[in-house]
Amino acid sequence: MKRVLITGGAGFIGSNYAHYVLGEHPHYEAVILDKLTYAGNMDNLKDLSDNPRYRFIKGDICDPEVVNEAMSGCNYVVNFAAETHVDRSIVDPGSFITTDVYGTHVLLEAARRFGVERFLQVSTDEVYGSVLEGFSNEQDSLHPSSPYSASKAGGELMARAYHTTYGLPVVITRGSNTYGPYQYPEKLIPLFVTNALDEVPLPVYGDGLNRRDWIYVLDHCAGIDFVLHNGEAGEIYNVGGGNEHTNMEITRLILELLEKSSDLITYVKDRPGHDRRYALDCGKLQALGWSPAHSFQNAMAETVKWYLDNRWWWEKIKSGEYARYYEQMYGGR
Ligand code: NAD
Ligand code: DAU
Repeated sequence: MKRVLITGGAGFIGSNYAHYVLGEHPHYEAVILDKLTYAGNMDNLKDLSDNPRYRFIKGDICDPEVVNEAMSGCNYVVNFAAETHVDRSIVDPGSFITTDVYGTHVLLEAARRFGVERFLQVSTDEVYGSVLEGFSNEQDSLHPSSPYSASKAGGELMARAYHTTYGLPVVITRGSNTYGPYQYPEKLIPLFVTNALDEVPLPVYGDGLNRRDWIYVLDHCAGIDFVLHNGEAGEIYNVGGGNEHTNMEITRLILELLEKSSDLITYVKDRPGHDRRYALDCGKLQALGWSPAHSFQNAMAETVKWYLDNRWWWEKIKSGEYARYYEQMYGGR
């Protein structure tokens, strides 16, 4: 048996990864450590509750005591735990620095003491900043624009420092914009799908021509797992989907898939510091032997269908505290 600690495993990508790991590796146990912030959701892990190879611990990655308890006996650590929404980071940067930088440090410190075999830091293509032309590769300098991306850059730099200074076997992934089931409806795709289902306006920032590279969540999980097992210690790997689209293209596709009117599109005031484009060169990971398996058209259709079939999941979220958040973010826009 190998044991993997998945921090942030009750969130979007972390919960998909927990399912992936337990399905893909029958001889692995998964320990999930999650603070259950607004973004953490036990519904995402519901169908694992009877699995004898799964254990959940509620706790904060900034708390060394609970981190020690969770990491004890683990071979691998995959750190998904983070504050993740750019718009929230503009309103409250402090919580991002606390979790994404300091929390990562607490995990690294414990990993060093326990002598874990691998520590994978899940980072983001946003650390490169906006790239108007060409593709970012792992050698490029970092130009994070938002408090979120600056905090993520801080976390991964700390992880690299633990490799350089203490020899901790760290690997880092920089993933692109991810979509799929169980994504909190504050991010573009689940927000627009659920708004469209409710016939509520879709708030497009600025001119809607910002571009992102989109990866299906199962591809992102598979890429992370591949790097965990095959990446070289101390190295960074871009994990992208190779599907670049403007926000308007995404919006129109959602409306088309749901057969909803384009009258729902509403242009609103832009996000401050809004990065125009992210695009990843994934040649390094391809050379190692991995590339995504899902087509954008099919995976988007499946994703939209999932939100259509699982109203119970997102209606619960949207009926609570979320209403206040929505008013704060979009009310005056
Ligand atoms: P998410 O917001 O859906 O989930 C984050 C999870 O972390 C939640 O379950 C939350 O409760 C938990 N968490 C937050 N603070 C914590 C703390 N202090 N201690 C323990 N748990 C805590 O995020 P996501 O979209 O699943 O992203 C997961 C990781 O992937 C993040 O590190 C993010 O930066 C990175 N990433 C995300 C994307 C994307 O498009 N979603 C792309 C690239 C990289
Ligand atoms: O690139 C990877 C990153 O992708 C991750 O590291 C982040 O955790 C994740 O949140 C995501 O960041 P973005 O800022 O790109 O994602 P978001 O879904 O917030 O926005 C995607 C694009 O859609 C962006 O150009 C802003 C725009 N947008 C977003 C929202 C929420 C809108 O036009 N309207 C909206 O209401």
